[in-house]
Amino acid sequence: MWMEGAMAAGSVTNLPNPNRPPLLAADTVTKSFGTTSITEVLGGVSFSVTEGEFVSVVGPSGCGKTTLLLALSGLLRPDGGDVSFAGASVRGGTPPGLAIVFQDYSRSLLPWKTNLGNVLFGMRRVNDVSAAQKTERAMALLDSVGLNGFERHYPWQVSGGMQQRVAIARGIASQSRLLLLDEPLAAVDAQTRAEMQDLLLGIAKQYGQTCVLVTHDVEEAVYMGDRILVLSNRPARVVREIAVALPRPRDQIETRESAPFLAIRHEVLSLIRSMRRGGATGAAP
Ligand SMILES: Nc1ncnc2c1ncn2[C@@H]1O[C@H](COP(=O)(O)OP(=O)(O)O)[C@@H](O)[C@H]1O
Ligand SMILES: [Mg+2]
Repeated sequence: MWMEGAMAAGSVTNLPNPNRPPLLAADTVTKSFGTTSITEVLGGVSFSVTEGEFVSVVGPSGCGKTTLLLALSGLLRPDGGDVSFAGASVRGGTPPGLAIVFQDYSRSLLPWKTNLGNVLFGMRRVNDVSAAQKTERAMALLDSVGLNGFERHYPWQVSGGMQQRVAIARGIASQSRLLLLDEPLAAVDAQTRAEMQDLLLGIAKQYGQTCVLVTHDVEEAVYMGDRILVLSNRPARVVREIAVALPRPRDQIETRESAPFLAIRHEVLSLIRSMRRGGATGAAP
């Protein structure tokens, strides 16, 4: 079994179940940068994620999405509020069972390891599997992200889009309970992006993988998510949570042409446009 507590493989959507404690909870998280001139980036972000859920996060550029993911992961200490993962605060640092795929892939891969070596590094905490099985699984993952034949190359020998796919494969390979993804598909071409979206959804469904996906692509947010969190302009707050009650498995053509998909897309785009014009900052839904 890939991970403990795998669930919901057959369910249509994984909407939050109020009877289950959340896997991840952010409670009024605040963060500012600077000493003389202070930039308030997170203005009290609160939400929770249930095990097995796929949550998309969208918001205006520069609103604090990366900062939020870093705070969720325990890599960045908030000024106020708290983040808990599996019932414990992440203040002590990134807990086991939580993995993050960084926006800046060029700095997150280990340059002295091959692409295969990087994916195996992601699996270093995976137990009960032999080294040979790990290699087999890592090779299969690299194949599924389209890197067949590039396993023995180093990250700096392949394109930016390919490096990002290595980083995604590494994140998936870690078999973490929670995968935080920061705009992971921004650097890949449209065809590959669609394939990677479906790969991620396939993994999420098969293993009940809980995911928080930050993306600037509103259509991607709707296509992928069980729920969308819309962030305000800086300082970021959650201005709206939208349940995406679209059936799964989703289809790149059918789903994207369906009326509910278009209605949610419209709602999110309108909200973001109104914030770009300076309205609705931090306003309640
Ligand atoms: N370590 C830092 N020091 C100072 N300012 C930062 C730091 N990290 C982020 N910021 C600022 O916080 C704001 C939000 O950044 P970020 O979280 O990267 O936004 P997003 O990912 O939504 O584009 C930006 O104005 C950025 O310049
Ligand atoms: Mg960012």
